[in-house]
Amino acid sequence: MSGSKCRVCKEPAIIDLPRHNANFCAEHLLQLCRRQVEKAIKDHDMLAPDDRVLVAVSGGKDSLAVWDILVDLGYHADGLYVGLGIGEYSDTSYEHTQAFAAERGLSLQVIDLRAEYGYDVPTAAKVTRRVPCSACGLSKRHLFDRAALDGGYDVVVTGHNLDDEAAVLFGNTLRWDVEYLSRQYPVLPARHGFPKKVKPLMRLTEREMAAWCIVRGIDYQVEECPMAIGNKHLAYKDALNAIERQSPGSKASFYLEFVDKMAPILADRSQAATGDLHRCAICGSPTTGDECAFCRLRERVGGHDPVPVELVLHGKARRAYLAGRQGAEG
Ligand code: AMP
Ligand code: FES
Ligand code: ZN
Ligand code: ZN
Repeated sequence: MSGSKCRVCKEPAIIDLPRHNANFCAEHLLQLCRRQVEKAIKDHDMLAPDDRVLVAVSGGKDSLAVWDILVDLGYHADGLYVGLGIGEYSDTSYEHTQAFAAERGLSLQVIDLRAEYGYDVPTAAKVTRRVPCSACGLSKRHLFDRAALDGGYDVVVTGHNLDDEAAVLFGNTLRWDVEYLSRQYPVLPARHGFPKKVKPLMRLTEREMAAWCIVRGIDYQVEECPMAIGNKHLAYKDALNAIERQSPGSKASFYLEFVDKMAPILADRSQAATGDLHRCAICGSPTTGDECAFCRLRERVGGHDPVPVELVLHGKARRAYLAGRQGAEG
């Protein structure tokens, strides 16, 4: 970065953004991030000024940054953290989230899976013999929805960024999964008893969000989830990054042009795909069966003794996890 100047003010730059073909100083990087979030909100009708917003925060850079940006833009935004019980990873994630909220006097709701529902993600993975992310994703979605409805929030915000969305799109496209493609959109309106859900970071990259956090002095969980190491999602991100290096801007156009041009074409299919919904016999959430997927999971995996993280990891993920633990202890 030595010698390069900010595109806006010509002061020394702190970051180069090849897809904008420009460099930025700290102040104008923040301005760019705010503007991209404002544009996403406006283009897709994500938030109204008086909305009560619930931000799902994991303690990672993206969700802390989106919470910070929304508060900065004047939204009334509270946080929700879900304790997934993934060993030290969850402990540190919680500490970062809690510290962020406390330092800014923001309201944070905490739900602990084991304390409140009798299981955690590693145990669910072991008992169901499925990849951890499946019980994890299912539990998070359910708890975000519940918390939003019970708390009277208008909308749930997640920190999914451009890299996340482009990687999911890449996977869906490789399989031509029309069903998933038709539902991949940065806004899900409130419907059938589910709250509205939005992704205001859809126009911003991981690198930009890391820079936002550094400039704003936000300490975040830098580790990836140990259960995700080696999964396809990360491989798709690497593949897109390789293309991006050759041809800056292609990641953004891949995803943003999909949203503009393809999503409207696929929209009819997603409406047609919604089946008959009624209330879960146990928790009252909308579901197509008698009991919702969350309640079925909970009945199946609740009450088992906690399974340590390393017991559900295999191959590369397990080696990486054990090496990391050794590094941390030695
Ligand atoms: P991930 O599925 O881990 O990529 O996370 C996507 C988004 O889900 C994050 O940006 C957060 O908004 C939200 N999220 C992930 N993990 C948690 C958690 N433990 N508690 C609350 N929100 C979370
Ligand atoms: Fe869900 Fe890793 S955060 S399995
Ligand atoms: Zn500048
Ligand atoms: Zn239920």
